[in-house]
Amino acid sequence: MSTSDPEFLHNYLLPHDTEEQIRLQNQYNLAKDVMGHASAVPEWIKLSEITNVMDVAAGTLVWTFDLIGSPAVRERLNPSESAPDRINLYACDITDAKFPPKEQLDSMGIKTFLQDITKPFPEKFKGTFDLIHMGLVRISLTSEGWKKALKNIYEILKPGGLLHMVELDHVFYAKDELPPDMYSGHDMKTKLTGSAWLHKLNSVVYLTATSNGFLHDVSYPSLGTLIKSASFFITSYDQSPMPFGALCRTLRGSKGALLESAEKPTLDNLNIVTSMLIKGLYSQGRLEAPSGHPITSEEECKDVMDDILTGCTEEGAFIMIFEYVARKDL
Ligand SMILES: C[S@@+](CC[C@H](N)C(=O)[O-])C[C@H]1O[C@@H](n2cnc3c(N)ncnc32)[C@H](O)[C@@H]1O
Repeated sequence: MSTSDPEFLHNYLLPHDTEEQIRLQNQYNLAKDVMGHASAVPEWIKLSEITNVMDVAAGTLVWTFDLIGSPAVRERLNPSESAPDRINLYACDITDAKFPPKEQLDSMGIKTFLQDITKPFPEKFKGTFDLIHMGLVRISLTSEGWKKALKNIYEILKPGGLLHMVELDHVFYAKDELPPDMYSGHDMKTKLTGSAWLHKLNSVVYLTATSNGFLHDVSYPSLGTLIKSASFFITSYDQSPMPFGALCRTLRGSKGALLESAEKPTLDNLNIVTSMLIKGLYSQGRLEAPSGHPITSEEECKDVMDDILTGCTEEGAFIMIFEYVARKDL
């Protein structure tokens, strides 16, 4: 498989350049503050008892490097495969374009490889992993892709092994709205109907999801059902509001962290991702913003983007971030 093989890349909407790598790092840092995590996994996961770990759809390996920050992992890193009590770290993605330099990975003994998660993993991995992380693949996978990915991950976990997932919903809420409760999906009709900047933003995200077959909702009712259908048992589930723009000044993380420093990075994030989605929909003649209002010129595309950015700069918004830990049966 080559990194430029169109079979593996044609579906993916986001770039792999330096700007994207910075965006992913900032997004990861904010997600951790929002969820109130001190390390890469919830505290109850005993890293000292874990031997084989894989970061799938790893991007820049931001999660793997954070995991290495935990003493129970750092102290067991060893480039030599025969070292006793060694922790084995693997990472894969459809492209190595965002991977750190090979020398850096080798010096820590991290093994990387190319893998489309909708395809089965190499036979040698079957039943071997204690912990697998998959983060932020919502706009990479179709509903069918999720089913295949979850099945493939299930196969390479050991009995009792854990899948740790963090996902963003991309259904945007205004600052004074209440987030949906734990087990309800979003009321998409309300989110899409209206002429405010948030309706335009939600229409762009929703249309992208529906026209590409992506899940538009990764809250418990939808993604939780997929996880359970793949024979996993959901061990823990958590959700927190993640602010964008002006809301970073007032919203706090679930353990009280100040999020002010995320104001600019979240506006940059919104600009990068939403411009990409607008461009994609417009090129297919499918852009409506808000829903039911077709956008037919590049000038209108620019107006929609400006409107969204001004709204988020002045008022802010939040989306929900979800964390699932799922266990393979013993
Ligand atoms: C938004 S990035 C998230 C990266 C990383 N997990 C993080 O949290 O920063 C999504 C990643 O999924 C990868 N990806 C997309 N489709 C994939 C597939 N079918 N199999 C494996 N990786 C995929 C992309 O190349 C990209 O690196």
